Amino acid sequence: MSMVQSYSAAKPPLRVDPQRFQRDPHKVFAELRENHPVIQIDEHGYMALRARDVSEILTGKQTIQMEGRDYARLRRIPPGYACRLLQDLFLLSNNDDHRAKRGLFAPTFSLRAVEALREDVRSTADAIVKDLPRGEPFDFIKRMASRVPSELIAAILGLSRPEAAFLADRVYRMSQVVSPVYPLECHDEIEAATAEIFHHVKDQLCQRMDRPRGDSLSCLAADWKKNRMISFPSLINQVLGIIAGGTDTTRATFAMMVSLLLRHPDQWKKLNFNRNLIPGAVAETMRFEPAAGSVARYTTEEMKVSGIRLPAGVILRTSLMSALRDPELYTDPDRFDITRTDHPRLHPALGLGPHRCIGEFLARMEMEESLAALLDGVSGIRVDIWPKLLGFGGLRQVTPMIVCIR
Ligand code: HEM
Repeated sequence: MSMVQSYSAAKPPLRVDPQRFQRDPHKVFAELRENHPVIQIDEHGYMALRARDVSEILTGKQTIQMEGRDYARLRRIPPGYACRLLQDLFLLSNNDDHRAKRGLFAPTFSLRAVEALREDVRSTADAIVKDLPRGEPFDFIKRMASRVPSELIAAILGLSRPEAAFLADRVYRMSQVVSPVYPLECHDEIEAATAEIFHHVKDQLCQRMDRPRGDSLSCLAADWKKNRMISFPSLINQVLGIIAGGTDTTRATFAMMVSLLLRHPDQWKKLNFNRNLIPGAVAETMRFEPAAGSVARYTTEEMKVSGIRLPAGVILRTSLMSALRDPELYTDPDRFDITRTDHPRLHPALGLGPHRCIGEFLARMEMEESLAALLDGVSGIRVDIWPKLLGFGGLRQVTPMIVCIR
């Protein structure tokens, strides 16, 4: 059969009710992936399920990122700080605009720059572990997993401990700006948190503009002053975007990592004997339960995905969740194994192509050092309520995790 015939004979994407993913999304993806490389999940939205297609779509030229302006309009976000933040984010921009904004942050989040902060990150993580209650049940998400990203990003940017606490208190409200469904009913509190963080970061940048302190915010301020490729309010918004991008994702991944390791006591034990396995535990958690279930793009022209024709101008989600369990990419993909050696060089959980996670090295390091701090600082953990990562697309949400530690 010729290629042309096989394309025209290809069935249209199967329409799947999103409710079907509620109970066990991994099982549903596995059932669908072999015979339905693309599914349709709503009127104008499709989802690609195979690892090879996901990679080709995200690195190819037939799709573009959805623009913040469109997001803000579609979600009917009232004008203000939160709306301007969404419209300005480099995550939600394309081409020159994206390059100019992202380029400013590349040195701050390079492997070398991040590695230089490892000791600071470890001491912040040790302090968080030291603060955990002993001998009584508590919510691990609130007391540890939530503190890791907000306090560590503050430490990395060069903010003081009290400033980190200020940020931690507001950052989860602000980060709802990038949630898949904007909670309009919480708009006032999202707006207030975004405005407060905006002004705080503005003050910090202005202070460092006059008197550099040798920290990441000072470097950013100096780099910006050199070429002023973007406006000052936009610089502030990009810092907010960095803070927001790393909060829900790292919080959920860290909690799932501890939970998955405790559900696999043999692997927890191995880690206790061999700290060199920590990076493998982080990589395997991101594969097994990715915090970003999918990333969305617009098709700019008619295109084919595994032979299935898709029109121009539709939303095409690439399912990282499905790709990360594709047997074409991983051996025995439903097995959680921290010693796995088949992770690709670019881990798909962090996206692919021009929008690949800029915080990759930071995210890995935060989770590595926090896990090491936990292994060293706690002699036993009992889990009373296990967390779940809800959702199958966009950012997935972690449920409470109640533990008791010694
Ligand atoms: C486990 C933790 C993390 C996961 C799973 C994750 C995942 C991702 C993914 C999948 C993308 C691609 C989005 C797309 O293609 O549309 C992305 C982009 C991004 N991430 Fe992360 N991320 C994590 C941690 C972080 C951290 C710690 C930061 C802060 C430094 C961060 C900041 C960003 C930003 C600013 C972008 C946009 C990049 C661009 O558009 O050029 N992320 N992340």
